[in-house]
Amino acid sequence: MEKMLKLKILYQLKMLNEEYFEGFEKKISVEMPHNLKELQNQVLNCHLCNLSKTRNKVVFGEGSPTAKMMFIGEAPGREEDIQGRPFVGASGKMISDMIKNVFKMKREEIYIANIIKCRPPQNRNPEESEVASCIGYLFKQIEIIQPKLILTFGRIAFQYLLDDNTPISKARGKLYNYKGIKVIPTYHPSYLLRMPSKKRETLQDLNFAKEFL
Ligand code: URA
Repeated sequence: MEKMLKLKILYQLKMLNEEYFEGFEKKISVEMPHNLKELQNQVLNCHLCNLSKTRNKVVFGEGSPTAKMMFIGEAPGREEDIQGRPFVGASGKMISDMIKNVFKMKREEIYIANIIKCRPPQNRNPEESEVASCIGYLFKQIEIIQPKLILTFGRIAFQYLLDDNTPISKARGKLYNYKGIKVIPTYHPSYLLRMPSKKRETLQDLNFAKEFL
């Protein structure tokens, strides 16, 4: 993944008529604003991958800029693409119920974002190159917000945040670490809509997560 990210950055440098230079990754990463509003403006105008041609709206993410907890999903779906907000469709209803009933919090107290910011056509899985173009924005969001805890929903969110291919059925409910921030993976709500029997394990994962807040 890291290699792909570097290749992508090299490609971007070429498009900008820039030369390769030692330490270019650091330069690129400091060029993203350390401010959510400015970062959002940058992302709203992003055309680094082909999803920008088919998207309706960019779904940057939303919630408290000082959130203790961040939820990370995979990618916007149909409803999110229309509204420009994360988790507002059927999966979103489940996420909102979790926040209210398990964490006893308001949705606005959490920060909710996705691995990629634009909807893949027909909700297909994101391609690796799309993730490589986009995930830097999420890394920056995390760096700015500095939550105490991150919950990832589904295989894709877990796999790309932690660069780990462990199946989600094995990884779920365990404690991981991303740059000093605790991470707990669990199932994706859209999977739970198809497999309601997995809700019990998800509830266990959420209760485990609550201990770290
Ligand atoms: N599924 C996701 O992973 N993210 C959303 O924002 C909506 C559905």
